[in-house]
Amino acid sequence: MKQTETVVERANDLNLQPSISSALGDGLSKQVAFNLREVDGNLDDAATLARLHLALVGYGPVAGLGKGFLAHFCYSKLIVEGLMRAAIAEVAGEPAGFVAYTARAATFHQKAIRNYPFSAARALCLSVVTDPRAILGVLKALRLMVSRQSDTERMIADPCAEILTFGVLPAYRDREFVRATGLKISERLVQHAVSYFQPLGLTEVQAVVYATNRPTLMFYRMLGASIDSFVQAGIQSRLIRLPIAPETGAVTRP
Ligand SMILES: CC(C)(COP(=O)(O)OP(=O)(O)OC[C@H]1O[C@@H](n2cnc3c(N)ncnc32)[C@H](O)[C@@H]1OP(=O)(O)O)[C@@H](O)C(=O)NCCC(=O)NCCS
Repeated sequence: MKQTETVVERANDLNLQPSISSALGDGLSKQVAFNLREVDGNLDDAATLARLHLALVGYGPVAGLGKGFLAHFCYSKLIVEGLMRAAIAEVAGEPAGFVAYTARAATFHQKAIRNYPFSAARALCLSVVTDPRAILGVLKALRLMVSRQSDTERMIADPCAEILTFGVLPAYRDREFVRATGLKISERLVQHAVSYFQPLGLTEVQAVVYATNRPTLMFYRMLGASIDSFVQAGIQSRLIRLPIAPETGAVTRP
């Protein structure tokens, strides 16, 4: 699989909001440099991913464990150990979105802590030093792990594909930006994860989304996913199942 995808998107009419125009820079008024970059667990990228995660999915159970935990454990240790993967989408060199995914969805949550308790504890300490509220996040995260352990509803075994989380900063999912650049970054991120799963012979990718997260549910529905009710860690959620075309590795629209 290509680790880095670099394309230059043409925009005929880049009449963007001032904030986006300045992010793109004057020299790129007719072109948007888009880069989708798989990360290797280095700390600079891990810090960027932690920032994106907190900005976009700050409500989730893992975000509650704080920036230190995200950067020094999730987006570094777990990637280096091969438990999960992540990619950053960049527009004109600026982070615009991210995706975290795994082909080990059945065991990911348990192995993450059981196999690396000292790294997890050290990263959590770093979080607590910066923000003591991170300690409260532990209960939420433990509840998630227990819930995943008794996850009989899905009856999954590895390899099993899951998009753990993803997101795009609002400026880059703005309708005007999408129209002007033709760039739908959310779809690129999902397709990036899918193009990793397809050569492994996986024909479906899963995701768990809060029932209240309507934009994300709309997004997956639009891609042709099936959506079922699901309770995870006591929270009303939806289980997303997105088919992967075995030949092309494309997500299949209805
Ligand atoms: C998930 C995400 C990447 C999708 O981005 P996107 O594809 O660029 O699209 P949007 O978020 O703008 O909206 C998706 C669809 O839901 C619709 N929508 C947006 N807000 C909505 C709302 N409050 N209620 C109902 N529909 C809504 C949009 O109109 C859009 O439909 P359209 O494509 O037909 O216009 C983006 O919503 C995001 O980053 N969310 C925050 C992070 C997050 O929650 N991630 C999921 C973690 S599991």
